[in-house]
Amino acid sequence: MLILGIESSCDETSAAIVEDGKRLLSNVVNSQVDIHAEYGGVVPEVAARSHIEVINPVIRQAMHEAHVTWDDIDAIAVAHAPGLIGSLLVGVLAARTLAELHNKPLYPVHHVEGHIYANFITEQIDHSQQSRSVVSAEDNKGEVQPEELAPRSEALSSDEHNRKGDAPALPSKQPVFPMLALAVSGLHSQLVLFEDHGKYHLLGETLDDAVGEAFDKVARMLGLPYPGGPAISTAALNGDSRKYAFPKAKLKSPYDFSFSGLKTAVLRALQREIGEDHTFPSHELPARLNDAMRQDFAASFQYTAVKTLVDATVKAVNEFQPASVVIAGGVAANQELRRQLSERLPIGIEYAPISLCTDNGAMIAALGYYHAQVVPPTPVDEVSVYPSLSMRQTLWNI
Ligand code: KG4
Ligand code: ZN
Repeated sequence: MLILGIESSCDETSAAIVEDGKRLLSNVVNSQVDIHAEYGGVVPEVAARSHIEVINPVIRQAMHEAHVTWDDIDAIAVAHAPGLIGSLLVGVLAARTLAELHNKPLYPVHHVEGHIYANFITEQIDHSQQSRSVVSAEDNKGEVQPEELAPRSEALSSDEHNRKGDAPALPSKQPVFPMLALAVSGLHSQLVLFEDHGKYHLLGETLDDAVGEAFDKVARMLGLPYPGGPAISTAALNGDSRKYAFPKAKLKSPYDFSFSGLKTAVLRALQREIGEDHTFPSHELPARLNDAMRQDFAASFQYTAVKTLVDATVKAVNEFQPASVVIAGGVAANQELRRQLSERLPIGIEYAPISLCTDNGAMIAALGYYHAQVVPPTPVDEVSVYPSLSMRQTLWNI
C-alpha cells in the first residue's frame, strides 16, 4: 500500500511516499528555518504563508522523486493535529483537495504519533534499481513541474542522503510491542507505552515547557541561533558539562517532566556569572558572554535536560519491561541523548536517521498505513484541524 504523507504543522512543509508503512520512496522537506531565524522563533502568520507557497511543489516533488503517479497512490495521510492552526490548515486543505480530486481515502493523523512511527521506516527504495513508472510530461501537463521550483530550490531539499543516492542509516528492524516511546519535540515531552498499533497509554508528560522549547529558550539566553537544539548540542561539544550543576525537577510521578525550573536555573546562573542580580534582562545576556561561557552553559544545561529524559525512560523500561524502546521528535536528533540512552538502557535501542526525527512527511505516511489497517478513512469534508489535540484523544487509540 502506497501512501502520500503530508506534514505542515509548524515550520516545515513536507511530503513523502512510503510503502506498507516501512519502505521510504521519497521524503521532501522544505524548511522555513532561515525565514524564522531572523525573528528568533516561529512567526505563525509567516509560517502559514510559506506553507501555501510551497505545498503543491513539495507534493509534486515527492511524487516525482518516488517515480509514482496518482494511479500508484492508494491513500493520503495528513497531520491534522497538534500544531499552529494556520500551518495545519494548509496541509489539511491540500490533502482534502487531492483526496477529492483523485478519489483517494484520507487518514488524518496525530503529529506526535507520527514522530514515533518514523521508527517503523526500515527500508529505502534504491531508485536506480526500481522499475516504477516515471512521471511523464503528459502527467504533469498544466501543473507545477519540479523544475519550476528553481527560485526556492535551495530551501526545497529532499532527504540529503536520498539525493546523494546512498541510504540513510535506517534501523535494521521494526520495533516490536510492547514498545516504550519517548516523544520529545518543540511542543511535547511524553513517555508512551504501546501495547500494539493504536493501543497505548501515556505514562507521563511535561507539566510546563517541552524539552525542545527549553533548548530553544536557553539558546536564546546564550545568544545562539534558532533552532536552539542543534546550536546547543554543537556548542556543548567544546564545553564542560560539570561546570554548572543544575537541579532536576522533583515531581510526584516519575514519568512526568518539568523543564521551566531548569530554564530559570540557567538564567539565574548566567546572571550570577556576569555579576548581575535576578532583575538583569535575559535579552542583554548574550552581549556579556564569551564563547567559553556559552559552551560550558550549553554543555551543563544539555547534560541535565538529557539526564532527566534518560532517568525517566530507564525507570519505565525497568518497571514495564517493554520489548523495544524508541525515541522520537526533533530532540531525538540529540547525540548526547543517544549516548546516555545507549549507555544506560538495559535493552538494545536503534535510532531513526536525523532527517526522520525532525518534522517530515515520511513519518505521517508510515503512521497513515497503520491507521488504514485499524480504522476506516475519514470522509473528506469531516477532516478538520485540532491545534491542541492530545495523544490521549486520537482516532485510533481504542
Ligand atoms: O519535532 P520537531 O522538528 O518540531 C516539533 O514538532 O516541535 O522538533 C523541533 C524541536 C526544536 O525545539 C529544536 O530545538 C529541537 O527539536 N531539536 C533539538 C535538536 N534538533 C532539533 N534539540 C536538541 N538537540 C538537537 N540536536
Ligand atoms: Zn514535530
